[in-house]
Amino acid sequence: MKKIIITIDGFSSCGKSTLARQLAQKLNYVFIDSGAMYRAVTLYFLRNHINWEKKKDVEKALSEINLSFQYNDQTGRSDIYLNDENVELLVRDMLVSENVSAVSTIREVREFAVAQQQQMGKKKGIVMDGRDIGTTVFPKAELKIFVTADPAVRVERRFKELFEKNPQITIEEVKNNLEMRDYIDSNREVSPLRQAADAIVLDNSNLTRDEQLHKALHWAKEKLQQV
Ligand code: DC
Repeated sequence: MKKIIITIDGFSSCGKSTLARQLAQKLNYVFIDSGAMYRAVTLYFLRNHINWEKKKDVEKALSEINLSFQYNDQTGRSDIYLNDENVELLVRDMLVSENVSAVSTIREVREFAVAQQQQMGKKKGIVMDGRDIGTTVFPKAELKIFVTADPAVRVERRFKELFEKNPQITIEEVKNNLEMRDYIDSNREVSPLRQAADAIVLDNSNLTRDEQLHKALHWAKEKLQQV
């Protein structure tokens, strides 16, 4: 059976990763959360006090970073590793969330991440979610999905998720962070968040996880019949 590349892009906290993970499981494909890569780079920069305004410092730091994904038996998910350390939980930290959009505007950081992402898709059979996957990373992907949801629904979903880990968090903080990230992600110079012209839009404001998975699976099966 032929394999395809599926890209899932959209704003922060639209449920892209959940959809991508479930879709990959159903199709027996590799799932890559590209945002986790930008988050891991941000974590490294913060920990090592890298001045990311300085190109030389960024280049040196990137040369010291090795990113990989490894399957976690306990959760059944792929975790992101930064230089052999499992940082899957650490990269979801609020401090990382507050800085990741700024770090991901840096050209050298994007080139570093995109080159690895393209390598991961060489054999196809991959579902990758992010912001520029259908436009820049895999412009020729067979199936491109652009996920959207009502901003209020997104804030609510994200708040619930973060509150479980950190009951101190307020809805205002979550809302401000999402608005800031949406703005930076859409307005940056290098590969901003854009809907690819050939992407299918999936508004999941009123859909359950199962319903959105069902739609995406249907589109994937349709594409698979065409290749
Ligand atoms: O998907 P996420 O919220 O974990 O992504 C974190 C940040 O990484 C997001 O604010 C923008 C950046 N990002 C990006 O610039 N390009 C991608 N393909 C994925 C994420």
